[in-house]
Amino acid sequence: MKVLGIETSCDETGVAVYDTARPGADGLRAHAVYSQIALHAQYGGVVPELASRDHVRKLLPLIRQTLAEAGLVTADLDGVAYTAGPGLVGALLVGAGVARALAWALELPAVAVHHMEGHLLAPLLEDPELAPPFVALLVSGGHTQLVAVEALGRYRLLGETLDDAAGEAFDKTAKLMGLPYPGGPQLAKLAQDGRPGAYRFARPMTDRPGLDFSFSGLKTQVLLAWQGSDRTEQTKADIARGFEDAVVETLAIKCGRALDAADCDTLVVAGGVGANRRLRARLEEMASARGGRVRFPRPALCTDNGAMIAFAGALRLQAGQRESAAVHVAPRWDM
Ligand code: KG4
Ligand code: ZN
Repeated sequence: MKVLGIETSCDETGVAVYDTARPGADGLRAHAVYSQIALHAQYGGVVPELASRDHVRKLLPLIRQTLAEAGLVTADLDGVAYTAGPGLVGALLVGAGVARALAWALELPAVAVHHMEGHLLAPLLEDPELAPPFVALLVSGGHTQLVAVEALGRYRLLGETLDDAAGEAFDKTAKLMGLPYPGGPQLAKLAQDGRPGAYRFARPMTDRPGLDFSFSGLKTQVLLAWQGSDRTEQTKADIARGFEDAVVETLAIKCGRALDAADCDTLVVAGGVGANRRLRARLEEMASARGGRVRFPRPALCTDNGAMIAFAGALRLQAGQRESAAVHVAPRWDM
């Protein structure tokens, strides 16, 4: 089964073809992502209307390009999967409209995919040995969740953020330190030159039991430290390092607790913050210390992409899911 995947929930236009006849990463026949970062950078964040318009401009050419790279034509496809939510409503509607129209014209089934399920299943795309049950840490710009994955489509929420998502905390903290949008990767880069321990920020909500997170207080701590500092490059890097360590340590502590709660030894990490190198190293350390394992998608499949949508859609189509032809999106949607 060859499935076209379309992702347009935020500021990345992602398209891919996943072929279930080829196992694992070989099934990814082609994938392409067009990032709108340069477009939104001048505004310091994503402007929803501009995002929708850019998806309109980029989506069809990207579909053509991806099919050509895969050596396929539309007649070879067996289904179309698209992100139906959560996300920006206008941006979602572009992907949903194009996916539904293509599916209708080609007489193919279309399947609406939950964006976070796409992230959550992305590690399985590269590692066919990996199968539920496992615990997933979903860390993106909009979400921070710990989920017990019991089977495909059977997800139990163990904990989530009560305020800012981890990626959002990275982005907001970077912004207050004057780093350009999107700040997460910039802050992580700056932290490489920071000295561990020069600044120590709290590990929020780790001093009590439970699997929920709260990251909004951290940026206030950083703001106070930043305002009271000499603001040299070294200090800036030290503060970035202190912030990154606080987020990474908090996530590692809660992941350990989630593995205990679910009585599980496999942790899967997905979402943009999963590209963070220090987080990857710390979680590896945590998992191996307890005789378990942790799996991450390659960084390009951590951030938003069409491959995870094509893959999740293929699994759902294989499981027999079919839908009506109505164009349906859900800007807010529990998994
Ligand atoms: O999953 P994603 O691409 O989009 C959403 O669905 O939100 O995640 C984007 C988030 C942003 O907040 C970005 O700053 C963060 O992931 N991010 C990082 C890194 N790379 C991306 N945060 C920390 N370190 C990184 N290396
Ligand atoms: Zn995402």
